[in-house]
Amino acid sequence: MEANIVTTTPFNDQKPGTSGLRKKVRTFQQPHYLENFVQAIFDTQDGLVGGTLVVGGDGRYYNREAIQIILRMAAANGVATALVGQGGILSTPAASCIIRKYRTQGGIILSASHNPGGPDEDFGIKFNIGAGGPAPESVTAAIYARTREIDRYLTIDADPIDLDQIGAATLGAMRVEVIDAVADYAALMESLFDFNAIHQLFNSGAFRMCFDAMHAVTGPYAVEILENRLGAPPGTVINGTSLPDFGGGHPDPNLVHAHAIVELTQGAGGLDFAAASDGDGDRNMILGKGCFVTPSDSLAILAANAHLTPGYSQGVAGIARSMPTSQAADRVAEALGVDCFETPTGWKFFGNLLDAGRITLCGEESFGTGSNHVREKDGLWAVLFWLNLLAARHLSVAEILGEHWVRFGRNYYTRHDYEGVDSAAAEGLMDHLHRLLPDLPGYQLGAYRVAYADDFSYTDPIDGSVATGQGLRIGMEGGSRIVFRLSGTGTAGATLRVYIEQYESDPARHHEPVQEALGPLILIARELAQIEARTGRNAPDVVT
Ligand code: G1P
Ligand code: ZN
Repeated sequence: MEANIVTTTPFNDQKPGTSGLRKKVRTFQQPHYLENFVQAIFDTQDGLVGGTLVVGGDGRYYNREAIQIILRMAAANGVATALVGQGGILSTPAASCIIRKYRTQGGIILSASHNPGGPDEDFGIKFNIGAGGPAPESVTAAIYARTREIDRYLTIDADPIDLDQIGAATLGAMRVEVIDAVADYAALMESLFDFNAIHQLFNSGAFRMCFDAMHAVTGPYAVEILENRLGAPPGTVINGTSLPDFGGGHPDPNLVHAHAIVELTQGAGGLDFAAASDGDGDRNMILGKGCFVTPSDSLAILAANAHLTPGYSQGVAGIARSMPTSQAADRVAEALGVDCFETPTGWKFFGNLLDAGRITLCGEESFGTGSNHVREKDGLWAVLFWLNLLAARHLSVAEILGEHWVRFGRNYYTRHDYEGVDSAAAEGLMDHLHRLLPDLPGYQLGAYRVAYADDFSYTDPIDGSVATGQGLRIGMEGGSRIVFRLSGTGTAGATLRVYIEQYESDPARHHEPVQEALGPLILIARELAQIEARTGRNAPDVVT
């Protein structure tokens, strides 16, 4: 079948952010908008011609339409085979799993992660490379450059593929295989964790849990793995039906947006364990009875206990965390005698370290944890890892957490987000801080003396690539830190993120309320950045 060549002109706003291109649905629905970006992928990723491409998304509004457009363009651009998740669904970690397992040349994932979905909400697209991870900066830069000069795209005339029927079809000269979205991923999980032990934990009758799929992509994955394979009681998974608008919710598993399960763990009759995942299934939140495990602590605890699971019985080769993530993992790495890498925000910076075998586990404070099993963070994986630890150690979540702090000390940690801030005001605030940096070292801020202050940049130890401008760090003597950065995933205005951390070695002081323990540093951060004067905000919108 002859490809149609459609004339187009560039859009000037197709620069991928922290995790792909994210815009309002209506932006993507403009004629040629999605097509231009997709063609820029095909024009720059030669391996896709004659190769296999994985396509799937988190099921949000416009997912199915976008997949049909992408499949027709893939056929026109000479892709030999497309693997598509049934119903157009693939969680981000499942897509990574499938890209790797079938040794494909890459994948296109449609998601705006934890951002709300619906006709007036967000949509997103990102390209993952053959190793299964988000495209590195060199690739996203090439795709972006191509979008700036694009003048045509290729497509074919063809009827839509039936995405709901598992099986093979042809689209032009391309083979389309609609595959089970869950099976490969579930098999991978079964190879990593002690399903028998977790099964027994559920069977004991003494353990009660809940998983909130937030009406997003993990519903079918969680039902199959937790309820069908591991024998958790039916109803363990709540909000398990994936909906295009996530039921009107904000599918971000944190203390604010997933507060319903926080409630379920409170009080005398609270659940022993609760967890949630986000829109595309790569984030996780872990709760125990009356306690919340910060993602930073979760990474450190998984690393310290990894040898108790079948998949990581050899322990970890190294750990990586994003720069704003607390330094709890660093202490574990030190005790284990392995490297700990500090990378810029965004999962793409872990890929090289994982490929090179330098690290086994990695994570971000933003509710992302993962390992070398795929090249994305993985929500359900983190939940299963915790279940495996609970089954192996016969301790509660709070006991594991408390014991970890006694052994390694506690890194008190919080993140304050100021959302929808005027972009110019946010830039002005960052410029102001930037100007302060050179004078800060040696300066006394309240009870803290500044040890260093810099604009974080990172040189990849594997390929030598350099990423600059990755957030402002103000480190105090004794290890406390304040970090400022602007979000790279938003679609309207600017979001200022302020990350605050303080180390406490004394077990007698491990159980203070977090915001109180960090109170003085929080105040210093606000005043230093002139947050109220510059943004008009006297309190953050989201505190995690
Ligand atoms: C946010 C998180 C970051 C994560 C990204 C994608 O990016 O902070 O850790 O990798 O979402 O899930 P940000 O909006 O801060 O750029
Ligand atoms: Zn996500």
